[in-house]
Amino acid sequence: MLVSHRCRMWYGIVLACVLAFVTGCGGGGGERAQQPASQPSPPASEQPAQPPAAEQPAPPSEEEQLVARGQFLATSVGCTACHSADGTTLVGPTWKGLYGHEVEVVLPDGTETKVIADDAYLRESILNPNAKITKGFQANLMPVYEGQLSDDDIQAIIAYIKSLQGEHSHE
Ligand code: HEC
Repeated sequence: MLVSHRCRMWYGIVLACVLAFVTGCGGGGGERAQQPASQPSPPASEQPAQPPAAEQPAPPSEEEQLVARGQFLATSVGCTACHSADGTTLVGPTWKGLYGHEVEVVLPDGTETKVIADDAYLRESILNPNAKITKGFQANLMPVYEGQLSDDDIQAIIAYIKSLQGEHSHE
């Protein structure tokens, strides 16, 4: 007796669960039918990002202006036909990494020596290229710019050469 009573009780519980499940499902289905879950979400209330307040670029420093003028001059005077800024050897040695670098030069009497490419060396190389010939290059190829470039021009070109840092190629 006791056993069958328990059985009925379990049966009732299971039946109740099944009913609850079915009605639950049905109810859920009905809800879904009335209120599609796939309703597009309302447009996000995000504001288009405000453009950052116009940033004033810092005015170029005096050095930057000098370098820019030097680059302009080197191109307009024609130096860049023979001197590259990227390490390529053209008619003359590249200017990349030249400044502050040791350069092997040949003096007019044939003596070979080494100099550091500082302001004085660059100035002399521009005004009087044959005073020291860069080893491996020919003399008398580079025009003499004495009297053609002002002191300011030369300073600007030197500043530009100085700005071309990097690995200096001797090739
Ligand atoms: C027709 C080609 C030519 C032009 C144009 C030319 N150069 Fe040169 N330059 C050379 C050659 C070749 C050498 C290497 C031989 C020597 O020292 O004279 C040289 C060497 C130099 C050097 C020494 C470089 C080193 O590695 O030791 C400097 C600095 C230089 N030139 C600057 C200039 C400037 C600045 C201009 C323009 C105002 C210029 N050159 C125009 C051909 C040229």
